[in-house]
Amino acid sequence: MKNVCVITGGGSGMGLATARILGKTHFIIICGRTVSKLTHAIEELQKEGIDCEAFPCDVSDIGSVKKLAEHAASRGRVQALIHAAGLSPHMGDAARIMAVNALGTIYINTEFARIMESKSCILDVSSMSAYLTPSIVMPRRLYRLALTDTDLFFQKMMRRIRLFPKSVRSGVAYGISKDFVIWYSKQSALLYGSKDIRVVCVSPGNFETPMGSLEREEADKFTKYAAIKRFGKPEEIAFLFAAVVDERNGYLTGVDILCDGGLVASGVSAMSRS
Ligand SMILES: NC(=O)c1ccc[n+]([C@@H]2O[C@H](COP(=O)([O-])OP(=O)(O)OC[C@H]3O[C@@H](n4cnc5c(N)ncnc54)[C@H](OP(=O)(O)O)[C@@H]3O)[C@@H](O)[C@H]2O)c1
Repeated sequence: MKNVCVITGGGSGMGLATARILGKTHFIIICGRTVSKLTHAIEELQKEGIDCEAFPCDVSDIGSVKKLAEHAASRGRVQALIHAAGLSPHMGDAARIMAVNALGTIYINTEFARIMESKSCILDVSSMSAYLTPSIVMPRRLYRLALTDTDLFFQKMMRRIRLFPKSVRSGVAYGISKDFVIWYSKQSALLYGSKDIRVVCVSPGNFETPMGSLEREEADKFTKYAAIKRFGKPEEIAFLFAAVVDERNGYLTGVDILCDGGLVASGVSAMSRS
């Protein structure tokens, strides 16, 4: 029986590109909220000979995530989880962005660690925004609350975000939520290391996906600073995701890998760019 790979946000963009690579070795379960998008993606993957199915799931809903994890375990050994589901500033208000990106990562890591076994890997997806947003904005002292009281964690994070003008709240929520994902992914690596589950975070720069197109106008202002002056291609980040979860990478855990075409290396920040 093939190992199982679950890909949240697998109906489009980076998740779908990763399904094309990992589908050669794994049984793929893609999930997201939009059934028509998932159905279309499954048709495309099956045409390419990939063994796969869709499972609708909202990662910001703990009940929905529990069902996904239970279902995945019933299909075989879950060796890889690619958690690519996320919302960018143009896709929702600050509360929705925080719920999907931050709470979603807590729920996904927690529920999948229950059903995953030795030599498996959870890959969380953050963003270059976590590096570009000035660190003074990050309420890092609040992050630890996520380990004990998710409701209080969410309330306090939102209270902090509401200190910013309404016009910038979605952007601030995105940067903070993705900074939190990096922190939480590292905590998860420490928590689940004894079960021999690796947890690795990847922070993409600007990529040519549906989300990348929505954010293009703002993102393009940064391209000239990067070492590689173009957006990344979905298959480029998918190759990295596939390599990270590969069992031969058995010593890789508790880190964030920035894949941004050398943009952050330029030293540009959200405040300094012109
Ligand atoms: N593209 C970029 O330039 C870029 C840069 C930095 C970071 N990232 C990160 O990379 C990841 C992948 O994004 P992408 O570029 O591939 O964008 P994408 O094509 O928009 O993919 C995101 C996927 O997440 C799913 N999703 C959103 N909310 C969800 C929820 N609550 N529950 C389950 N699924 C949900 C969406 O499907 P539904 O709407 O149907 O649920 C969608 O298929 C995201 O975490 C994003 O923040 C992207």
